[in-house]
Amino acid sequence: MNPLASQKSTRHQPAVNAPSTAPQIPEPAVQTLTLRQPDDWHLHLRDAATMAAVLPYTARVFARAVVMPNLRPPITTVDQAQAYRDRILAALPPGVAFEPLMTLYLTGATTPAQIDAARASGFVHAVKLYPSRATTNSDAGVRSLAECRAVLARMERLDLPLLVHGEIARADVDVFDRERLFLDEELAPLQRDFPGLRIVLEHVTTRDAVQYVEEAPGRVAATITAHHLLYNRNAMFLGADGAAGMRPHFYCLPVLKREGHRAALVAAATGGNQRFFLGTDSAPHPRAEKESACGCAGCFTAPLALEMYAQAFERAGALDRLEGFASNHGADFYGLPRNSGTITLRRQAPAPLPPITALGQEIAVLPVHDAAWSVDAVTPAAGA
Ligand code: NCD
Ligand code: ZN
Repeated sequence: MNPLASQKSTRHQPAVNAPSTAPQIPEPAVQTLTLRQPDDWHLHLRDAATMAAVLPYTARVFARAVVMPNLRPPITTVDQAQAYRDRILAALPPGVAFEPLMTLYLTGATTPAQIDAARASGFVHAVKLYPSRATTNSDAGVRSLAECRAVLARMERLDLPLLVHGEIARADVDVFDRERLFLDEELAPLQRDFPGLRIVLEHVTTRDAVQYVEEAPGRVAATITAHHLLYNRNAMFLGADGAAGMRPHFYCLPVLKREGHRAALVAAATGGNQRFFLGTDSAPHPRAEKESACGCAGCFTAPLALEMYAQAFERAGALDRLEGFASNHGADFYGLPRNSGTITLRRQAPAPLPPITALGQEIAVLPVHDAAWSVDAVTPAAGA
């Protein structure tokens, strides 16, 4: 699949022989972009009515998604994952093909036998580590990795990936430093102790994490969200016109960082390195809970996620690298086949979204005002 196929005919050639008096013809921009159908390697679908409201936005675009297990109560067993998977499939719009890739929530009580069952299930593809209290619905998470050594050894042996929310959650650690400190305090020792364990450092937000993933030995990879590619931390503190303000819709964890970190993420995502791939971390919350005195963390981006990634890649002059990041690297890391369907994006502002509601509550969508691309057509795999 060559995402440049539609670009080549329109790409501007420098007119070296043109007389200097010739009128300047503006470079025609690429109008469409066709990619192998992408996957979302980090997604929160929630459950019940909320899931039914948000799932169609992901399933419209992505062939598969790694579904996060931080429900209340969390998905900790293969039986729970199977039941959750069945509910997801039952909530799909008719005729839409979508494969949920299930995960288990690691706790101090997870056993090696549960890892055996997960590996044997065929539908559980990873185990998620939430440091206790690090993020939304993480109170059942791991207090110390020392509790999990037997389980991690079994995962290493059975080659079941560990997905990591990489933040130190101690109250005395500055919120903006939590990811950077996690690298030295937790991740490096984890890799030393379990050198064969496949690890995804989820939703990286710092140049430190990018550098760690680029240089680390072993099979470590990272997902990058669309909002961390497009926004730095000013987005939380300034209105669209640059005036002061506080915008809770941009609050997620790990929190948005300085511009230099955002630039490092863009370089990583667009650089062609197979260790980096798409994971939206789309995380729906009711508007009333985001706009409150103690607003919750998580940005719901599923309705415009691929459009946002296309925007970030175009700004970096790297639309030709979008397919690797969105459609190839993740599947290769997880050892799953690449999708055979395609998706076409068109240079056109997306249609306004209708309000998305569940249980009478509006779900807050991350506001994106300047999207230049929209999904035009999806051609699923033959027979899907
Ligand atoms: C996620 C959520 O709401 O479930 N929130 C977030 O800020 N990203 C949890 C997570 O992935 O940290
Ligand atoms: Zn998440």
